[in-house]
Amino acid sequence: MRKNIIAGNWKMNLDYNEGVSLFSEIVNMVKDERKGDQLVVICPPYIHLNSLAKLGGAEVKIGSQNISDNESGAFTGEISAKMVKSTGAEYVIIGHSERREYFAESDELLAAKTKKALEHHLNPIFCIGETLDERNNGSYYEVLKKQLLHGLFSLTEADFSKITIAYEPIWAIGTGLTATPEQAQDIHAFIRSEIEANYGFNVADDTSILYGGSCNPKNANELFSQKDIDGGLIGGASLKSRDFTDIIRVFNS
Ligand code: 13P
Repeated sequence: MRKNIIAGNWKMNLDYNEGVSLFSEIVNMVKDERKGDQLVVICPPYIHLNSLAKLGGAEVKIGSQNISDNESGAFTGEISAKMVKSTGAEYVIIGHSERREYFAESDELLAAKTKKALEHHLNPIFCIGETLDERNNGSYYEVLKKQLLHGLFSLTEADFSKITIAYEPIWAIGTGLTATPEQAQDIHAFIRSEIEANYGFNVADDTSILYGGSCNPKNANELFSQKDIDGGLIGGASLKSRDFTDIIRVFNS
């Protein structure tokens, strides 16, 4: 059975005290208000991983926003999968469009990072998504298929079954433009069919596919009620405890 997951991506926001304070609010609200069995994950900047993993307990899991593809050594400024795992974090976002674009991360590099995460028992949340141009010129199925093929489909079935996919149309990230529930469902069904073609029905049926891009308490319900949308990767709205927990709540309404 695939899991329903609400993950927050804090991006490069919140200093140490701000992070602890927001996270404590989120944990308390999740404890009080969560109905159902959604998995809640927060992906803060690295400085927060260890303290939040201790505070989160069983209620809220922690993930990092990136890892190195290298094991260890002279890579100034990088952080390894082993280090992230040692903080108590259990997840890692790989291939966010901001890393693909601003840090020139290629599909091949992302495939290496995914393998490194799995070696250290971190669960990858692997992001794919098309630009506005690719959406408008109709090449988006090809673009997404290539990201899946080169980033993920060389994994063994056992490894692939540990992957969560996030579909984040780049034109919807931080723009206030959201994919319509129909557009998102169409792509999620496409992603699931590509997984099925490579790994078979059972693996495809068990893979959680999250939607990300201007998701908020108002649009979450309609998005998450689509049959192939298993939750969300939330940016801006995860920086407000009320909005984030409202999104978790509507999931179940
Ligand atoms: P927004 O929710 O701010 O659009 O960001 C989405 C995102 O990039 C999550 O990873």
